[in-house]
Amino acid sequence: MTNLQNRELSIQKDFDKFDWSSAYNNVDIELENEILPLSKGTIIKELNGTLYRNGPGILERDGQWVHHPFDGDGMITAIRFEAGEASISNKFVRTKGFLEEKKQNKFIYRGVFGTQKKGGILNNFLDLKFKNIANTHVIKLGENLLALWEAAGPHALNPNNLETKGLTSLNGVLKSNEAFSAHPKIDLNSKLSSELVVTFGVQAGPKSTIRLMEFSNAGDNAGELLFDRKDTFNGFSFLHDFAITTNWAIFLQNAIDFNPIPFVIGQKGAAQCLKSNPNKKSKFIIIPRESGLYKGQKPIIIDAPKGFVFHHVNAYEDNSKIILESIFYDDFPSVGPDENFREIDFTKYPEGNLKQSIIDLKNQTSEVVTLSKQCCEFAMVNPKRLGLKSIFSWMACTERKEGNAPLQAIKKYNSINNEEIFWSAGERSFVSEPIMIPSKNPSSEDDGFVFIVVWNGERRGSDLVILDAHNLREIGLYELPISIPHGLHGSWVNS
Ligand SMILES: [Fe+2]
Repeated sequence: MTNLQNRELSIQKDFDKFDWSSAYNNVDIELENEILPLSKGTIIKELNGTLYRNGPGILERDGQWVHHPFDGDGMITAIRFEAGEASISNKFVRTKGFLEEKKQNKFIYRGVFGTQKKGGILNNFLDLKFKNIANTHVIKLGENLLALWEAAGPHALNPNNLETKGLTSLNGVLKSNEAFSAHPKIDLNSKLSSELVVTFGVQAGPKSTIRLMEFSNAGDNAGELLFDRKDTFNGFSFLHDFAITTNWAIFLQNAIDFNPIPFVIGQKGAAQCLKSNPNKKSKFIIIPRESGLYKGQKPIIIDAPKGFVFHHVNAYEDNSKIILESIFYDDFPSVGPDENFREIDFTKYPEGNLKQSIIDLKNQTSEVVTLSKQCCEFAMVNPKRLGLKSIFSWMACTERKEGNAPLQAIKKYNSINNEEIFWSAGERSFVSEPIMIPSKNPSSEDDGFVFIVVWNGERRGSDLVILDAHNLREIGLYELPISIPHGLHGSWVNS
């Protein structure tokens, strides 16, 4: 087989919206260790491990579509590599709500992002129950795989066969239904453990409480909670993600209000009741890590730049400053009650821009610099550089240089010289979050691979594409035997 070549961006070509929306279908099969033959390119023999991905796998029941794909039940895909042999498994997380709705073949819960039960407002009025859909991220903590959804606790799964063990309190750490973020950070640079999982939960209200937790994820005590603190702040907090440095956990409290009335009376989903407040200022909430130098000290709160952030890329300390890269939107993007998510007009939604915030802890100020105006999402650095200064990041981006559109390309960004290189999935294909996996014995920060699940609109199926992280050349492509709807987050776990 021959090596594949880079493909250039087809910058101004228009995409076919149906090619994009054709990914949104129910997944109706569950595979178990099905052998994956390489379709194109070269087999990688040096990686032994599993790519786990999470995302919505049920989008319609009894003719009713979810209002937003984020309301779809979580399905885990696992693609294993062992001495060059690849295999694939996929399984739905058996949440209580998934099992109930499967049995009744209809939606019996309202979704946070606007999915309503059939029967109109009257049938949704005062129904404040929610379904933990476990669809946002998947990581390994201790001996379990955790399927994560930020508004409630994690589901534990068997990492080998993906069977659901059930909701877990993590050995008594979490109370029943306690929020547990879907964006844990894996710290490979702590002096206290070769791997720490740092994460948080938010109890939001007129005052909001952030619980910051650090778990060991190596050795005999893998999965054990080592550090735990709680801090309460004024104001409603919508915190999807955070960033860490060696000594700090950094949150951006968006200037958002929550008016629960339309949710309570059955008109809207809870997330549709979030609205930017132009009279409020976003805040950086910077909490000392209990594993760091400033343990026990109070959080620092500093005014933040305008804009809305779901995801951060990385942060590091530079003397008394924290440098933070994030993806900023002009406003909170929400699919309104009368819109069909499969037919949305991308140009009406704000695009994500890569920006760098320089947070001065000493003078308690912040400033922001736009690094790129090209719409992007789902960015990551080499996992070994998380929390430290990193040169490179890899992210999903649009083909166009400005404006919103589906994500159809991968960008490698160099934060030292602003150089960008691209790989395009092609005119009819759409990318998901890229996962950067370092080589076994890396010679540089960008020595490794980038794994991407791609929706191939022409074939109406999913591919796994493996790129060289250094130059974004295609190394290998596997045509997958299942069609995976556009997904959310995932992780790589070495064997
Ligand atoms: Fe996320």
